[in-house]
Amino acid sequence: MTKRVALVTGGTGGIGTAICQQLAKIGYQVAAGYNSGGDHEKARAWQAEQKAAGFNIAISFGDVRDFDSCGRCVAEVEEMLGPIDILVNNAGITRDSTLRKMSKEQWDAVLTSNLDSVFNMTRHVINGMVDRTFGRIVNVSSVNAQKGQLGQTNYAAAKSGIHGFTKALAQEVARKGVTVNTVSPGYIATKMVMAVPDEIRAEIIKGIPVGRLGEPEEIARAVAFLIDDTSGFITGANLAVNGGQHMF
Ligand code: CAA
Repeated sequence: MTKRVALVTGGTGGIGTAICQQLAKIGYQVAAGYNSGGDHEKARAWQAEQKAAGFNIAISFGDVRDFDSCGRCVAEVEEMLGPIDILVNNAGITRDSTLRKMSKEQWDAVLTSNLDSVFNMTRHVINGMVDRTFGRIVNVSSVNAQKGQLGQTNYAAAKSGIHGFTKALAQEVARKGVTVNTVSPGYIATKMVMAVPDEIRAEIIKGIPVGRLGEPEEIARAVAFLIDDTSGFITGANLAVNGGQHMF
């Protein structure tokens, strides 16, 4: 069988890089979708770094806030590698602020980047997956979707929306060999979490039973499990990887 093709949005970021590397390591053809504020040179440098580390990963520009840009990204990846079998909707941002101070721009930025993005990408791959009777979609949510977090009404709302999307689409395509699941990371040692003020982050870590931040590779392993060919009976599920911070 030819190697399955996986597209990971936000593929050059903290968790995204670990997902790309993990999938490449276990034999997938991987493309990292990137935005990088349109800095193509930065993405090419990332790709060269991956190559030097032994990972052959394609890159494709796509602004996940923009439906047509996502369409172009999908078309480019399919031209380079073949039909997309696996989509990991991982791209996301934070614009933390209490609601009392939150601007409309902060709200819109997070909702479009973290929730509209899931529609914008998935819509371009879903019919191909259904036609080929195989597909794996993994949406990356967050512990804060279910737990809530002071300063993240925008982020929690968008990440909660992902759960509804996942469960609805999972039902629509369950008989077509396509699974749709969510992975919900807790606080992972990436730039995004390191941007939280030190004293607040220290308080948060105190609330994690495992007693530490998670590693990006720990999220990548969960994604690899869900996309496996043998994971076809797992759909509409949410896999929490949060060190016990929130149990449900
Ligand atoms: N419980 C209740 N109230 C609290 C509180 C707490 N633990 N901590 C602060 N407050 C209150 C303060 O007393 C203050 O109220 P008053 O104005 O009445 O005094 C109010 O909340 C804070 O208001 P401010 O808007 O002034 O706060 P700020 O501007 O200093 O900071 C913040 C707000 C930016 C949201 C800051 O708290 C923060 O960064 N928090 C962390 C948010 C966070 O966890 N983000 C996760 C990012 S990583 C990620 O998202 C990845 C993932 O999936 C996990």
